Amino acid sequence: MVDFLVVGGGIAGLRAAVTLAEAGSVLVVTKEGLAESNTAYAQGGIAVAMGGEEDVALHLADTVAAGDGLVNAEAAAVLVEQGPQRVEELLRWGTGFDREQGELMRTREGAHSLPRILHAHGDATGWEIAVSLLRHVRGLERVELMEWVTTVDLVVDSDAGRVVGATLLDAAGALVEVRARAVLLASGGAGQAFSDTTNPAVATGDGIAMAYRAGAELMDMEFMQFHPTAFAMEGAPRFLMSEALRGEGAWLVNARGERFMGRYHAGLELAPRDVVARAIGREGMDGPVYLDMRVAGGGTDLKARFPGISAFLVGYGLELGRDLIPVRPAAHYLMGGIRTDVCGRTSLAGLFAAGEAACTGVHGANRLASNSLLEGLVFGALAAEAMIEEQWSVVSGQWLERTTVGEDLDVEGWIAELRGLMWQDAGLLRDEAGLRRAQAGLARLRESEPRGGSRRELEARNLLAVAEVMVQAALGREESRGAHFRMDFPEKASVARHSVMRRGELRFVGD
Ligand code: SIN
Repeated sequence: MVDFLVVGGGIAGLRAAVTLAEAGSVLVVTKEGLAESNTAYAQGGIAVAMGGEEDVALHLADTVAAGDGLVNAEAAAVLVEQGPQRVEELLRWGTGFDREQGELMRTREGAHSLPRILHAHGDATGWEIAVSLLRHVRGLERVELMEWVTTVDLVVDSDAGRVVGATLLDAAGALVEVRARAVLLASGGAGQAFSDTTNPAVATGDGIAMAYRAGAELMDMEFMQFHPTAFAMEGAPRFLMSEALRGEGAWLVNARGERFMGRYHAGLELAPRDVVARAIGREGMDGPVYLDMRVAGGGTDLKARFPGISAFLVGYGLELGRDLIPVRPAAHYLMGGIRTDVCGRTSLAGLFAAGEAACTGVHGANRLASNSLLEGLVFGALAAEAMIEEQWSVVSGQWLERTTVGEDLDVEGWIAELRGLMWQDAGLLRDEAGLRRAQAGLARLRESEPRGGSRRELEARNLLAVAEVMVQAALGREESRGAHFRMDFPEKASVARHSVMRRGELRFVGD
């Protein structure tokens, strides 16, 4: 029994824990080791307007423009206005952003009107934030951190009409029900629903799927952001080639060696992410596409500026500044998620969500580069404040059983099939025929759904639940907007509406 249960140890969950600890006991559970989250893999940085009102107004305008008409204005204003104070907090807690002569360094990324992205260790910003935040949280007496614990499902008290806890599975197969005054899902996104993704293996949409099973509303699930430049070499992981490379001057060139972005957008390589991803997708039909960092320079020491990326490339005999780097898009960030207000309240009492698992509408149809770490900080803190207001007497949880964690041998093949069909038919370029194929494929997979109690089987079921919602929402959205591109409906609808899914029913609503 705890006051507050936080599922997920990324930036949103840890930031929430800091505030929650002021009001009660907090249990933070993570599926793998602490710091294994999308947060830790974020390279480019954290976008923040530290230069006063005008700067904040520009950050707001860029966020709204990138979101292609679907950004929730209130959420975006909260993000950019509260962002600076949250980043100041990080600085006080010891986060070591890169500096030059004592001043914070700032870089520029796609669709930003000026350089406002702070970074750390060159290209390991997420790692630095995760580690420093964790250090801070470890010092808080009322926070307990539990690693290698899978959250199985939410516990719903149907008489009270609220979420009252969650069932957890530890690495040894012990199943326990934990009761809490309020539960926060800060469990990240679902990039693993696609065969090609920059996301780590943990990003299987668990929180989103369990909220949906419990009856919560999901919003804008068709909006998966495809990062334009993931490493593209046969047999190699889809390692992120940060947008900051283009921020520092890299070009995109096609198989004929032509710099092609001029044909697609005046912003060239720094056009909005969805535009660049589709341009690479199209050029990629005629052969490989490359990042060309040889043209960038201005005396920048690329190994020092991008040490993580440089070290990765060495393993493939490549060097920034010397070689062309093969790239193509990969699933990267889910703009949709569990529908919340700006304080993280979901449609279920007692249940809150923040970070990539949540959807406030702050990113609209296309997230502005490097706004996600800021999102976790700002909305993690706000969700915690709202959770503290929850009045509910917690009763004790219970040990449930010791379950068998033995794994269905076919589960990896089953998951691979799901990821492949999502990439093929519900990826960067969509149409009705492809989405119907994806739907039929998912229906087939549902018939042979893994039913066991192991972590991997739970993940498989979560991926299926999330994929089904994504496809249904993508079919329902008969327009092209931001990251959702329908070849059969290439225009944007005149009115922007959010898709909302609850228990298999899809509807479209305004803000
Ligand atoms: C990147 O470094 O390109 C990723 C940053 C982001 O997803 O915002």
